[in-house]
Amino acid sequence: MKTLKDFNFKNKKVLLRCDFNVPLSKDGLILDDFRIKQTIPTIEYLIKQGAKVILMSHLGDPNGKIVEGLRLTPIQEKLMEYLDLSIVKANDCLGKDVEEWTNQMKEGEILLLENLRFHKEEEENDENFAKELAKLADIYINDAFGVCHRAHASIVGIPKYLPAGAGLLLEKEIKTLTNVLEKPWRPLVAIIGGVKISTKIKTIEQFLEIADHLLIGGEIANTILNGKGILIGRPLPEKEILEKIDKIDLTNSKIHLPVDGIIALKDKGEDFIREGAIGTAKKEEGVFDIGPETIKIFKKIIEEAKMIVWNGPLGFFEDKKFEKGTREIADEIARNHNAFKIVGGGETIEAVAKFGLFDKFDHVSTGGGAMLEFLAGEKLPGIEVLRSAGYSGSPPSA
Ligand code: 3PG
Ligand code: MG
Repeated sequence: MKTLKDFNFKNKKVLLRCDFNVPLSKDGLILDDFRIKQTIPTIEYLIKQGAKVILMSHLGDPNGKIVEGLRLTPIQEKLMEYLDLSIVKANDCLGKDVEEWTNQMKEGEILLLENLRFHKEEEENDENFAKELAKLADIYINDAFGVCHRAHASIVGIPKYLPAGAGLLLEKEIKTLTNVLEKPWRPLVAIIGGVKISTKIKTIEQFLEIADHLLIGGEIANTILNGKGILIGRPLPEKEILEKIDKIDLTNSKIHLPVDGIIALKDKGEDFIREGAIGTAKKEEGVFDIGPETIKIFKKIIEEAKMIVWNGPLGFFEDKKFEKGTREIADEIARNHNAFKIVGGGETIEAVAKFGLFDKFDHVSTGGGAMLEFLAGEKLPGIEVLRSAGYSGSPPSA
């Protein structure tokens, strides 16, 4: 796989795929900028080498439409602050204006393209879309480890048309996580939470093979318990996911699902909030955090771990009423000085930062789903394409 040192960037237009998908507040403020910060070294390197840097990223899930609140403006501001440079942002990620702009760029200048996912072609890995983006540059660099598990146009499409390599962050993530994958310390405890069940259900199966204990919380746990008929009163997960849930053997002694939760009205309305066994949640209620019994069980397992991999909050930690599970689990991980501790993912990092535990971890990965898949031994499409360096000709002509 090519890395930055293998290229001569002088006076070259470089398309740099970053993962600027940071958590945002309702008012569009960046809640945690770790992913942005981690990309700065690559950008600085390229600038120093005399490149013209064209940055691109997705933000959130606009599903192929323009969503005003998901423009990359807050990212542009943050980057200018960290780089102490002025950065132009385009209103789209391709088109005439963008092309003109890229043609006028000078060495050391930076252009930020608009949210890639405003075009549905990004997630569809549309070939023409990839070609159009490739046309903007001479070299493609991927520094978006967090998106390498997605076979999207900006990840796997563009490197077919341009010389391609990995940025410093991607290189670092691969190095560190490969070490972990090759030499896991045992007991290895994986903690998986969050909401993205469709992405993580596969890793749950895989971690049941490789880990000694798998602790599951958050909305993912709710979905599994719902599929198993334990948590009722909500629509069943879609068929494909339900089939996978069906296959999870709840009697497997490695798997630990919440036995109790913090239960509130679904609309989180007014003062109604209680602790209870998961099975007692009624139709109008939702489970928003793991309960005290679950915390106790999870802590005991974490205490004895030698390696801990964590992705995904265990509850709706953004709301103080439902942060206890995530906070106590984070605290317990931090207290285990014997274990090698890895945490990753946008929201999980936000939680760890909020609790002031950032430096207690041995590796903070910018990847959430990507980190889990990598550690489960999956081949990530974004990394594979760089390894096989798909490019074999000249860039598509205008
Ligand atoms: C992430 O947040 O895990 C990455 O940015 C990928 O985002 P996605 O899960 O929306 O594809
Ligand atoms: Mg998403």
